[in-house]
Amino acid sequence: MSDKTILRALRGETLPTPPIWMMRQAGRYLPEYRATRAQAGDFLSLCYNPELATEVTLQPIRRYGFDAAILFADILLLPQALGADLWFVTGEGPRLSTITGPDGIRGLKTKDDIHDHLAPIYETVSRLAQQLPKTTTLIGFAGAPWTVATYMIAGRGTPDQAPAHHLKDTDRATFTALINLITEATIEYLSKQVDAGAEVIKLFDSWAGSLTGQDFEDFAVAPTKKIIAALKHRHPGLPIIAFPREASNGYINFHAKTGADCVALDNSISPEWGAAHVQTAGCVQGNLASRHMVTGGQALIDDTRHIVETFRNGPHIFNLGHGITPDADPENVQLMIDTVRNS
Ligand code: CP3
Repeated sequence: MSDKTILRALRGETLPTPPIWMMRQAGRYLPEYRATRAQAGDFLSLCYNPELATEVTLQPIRRYGFDAAILFADILLLPQALGADLWFVTGEGPRLSTITGPDGIRGLKTKDDIHDHLAPIYETVSRLAQQLPKTTTLIGFAGAPWTVATYMIAGRGTPDQAPAHHLKDTDRATFTALINLITEATIEYLSKQVDAGAEVIKLFDSWAGSLTGQDFEDFAVAPTKKIIAALKHRHPGLPIIAFPREASNGYINFHAKTGADCVALDNSISPEWGAAHVQTAGCVQGNLASRHMVTGGQALIDDTRHIVETFRNGPHIFNLGHGITPDADPENVQLMIDTVRNS
């Protein structure tokens, strides 16, 4: 069995120092990322260029020695592979063609027709598997179906996911068909990432917090469970991290309900609550507020130590509660890492 620290934590080991990586660790806060992105031309060209995507994935590993590297890609590449139009508006974010009814789904491809489009991503994974230091774990990822569906339906990021809720509540059949298509395609996409060398898979359900009651069970829990079961069937022992962001009480029993080896916590919940209600069921990841990467100082040190201390008695991977933002100071990332490793 591998002795990489992240894999040990994912097997349920309590380690003296938590392994550490950071959501969006390859990103605009790094000058070397901005340079490579300029070389690629734009964000999507960077995602589909295996040489440059490998380079930006490696940059934070070289600079900081994180314990894990996450494939450089985006959760919206899968909708694009399914036939959605996708583009990024500078300073605003992603734009996609919208799905408002059954016609929108009929125009999409099937789960078996995505791999030609996604071949450059698999190529990036296999280059990373060869080039990463022997102690660094390679994480592949996808969006969870609900979160991906919110973008495919609205055609953009939305504060309250209203268009997706509207379709779910007015045309359940179309909405369910879309969730099922994304679920099936995600299984194929992630399975290929594992074949190419990803050692861990993470599912980002960034908008899980807007699902409540039975909807949370049907559209956050059930698709995640289905993806995890299929991946573990094909790749026995594959560790999986689930991130039902802002799920609040939905975090309780999320390991058991979905089969995830690790549940990533956002920073809207306290470490004490996470340790008492989530870590008791398995490994947790998180949950320092991203703003500390902008503001730094003693508050960063205090909150980092507090998180390490509070999760000390069980399996824990240190991370932020959400992605690092472009205005972050690279020095503060180093301060966080030094604080974790010297706590
Ligand atoms: O974590 C990593 O370093 C790996 C790469 C990664 C990116 N996006 C690169 C990216 C990962 C894991 C994602 C996931 C992702 N993408 C999510 C889920 C996680 C989350 O943040 O909630 C979502 C919702 C998306 C969709 C997306 N991509 C949005 C809304 C945006 C625009 C917002 C922004 O930060 O600009 C993106 C663009 C994006 N994805 C960037 C990066 C590095 C910035 C693009 C650039 O360089 O201009």
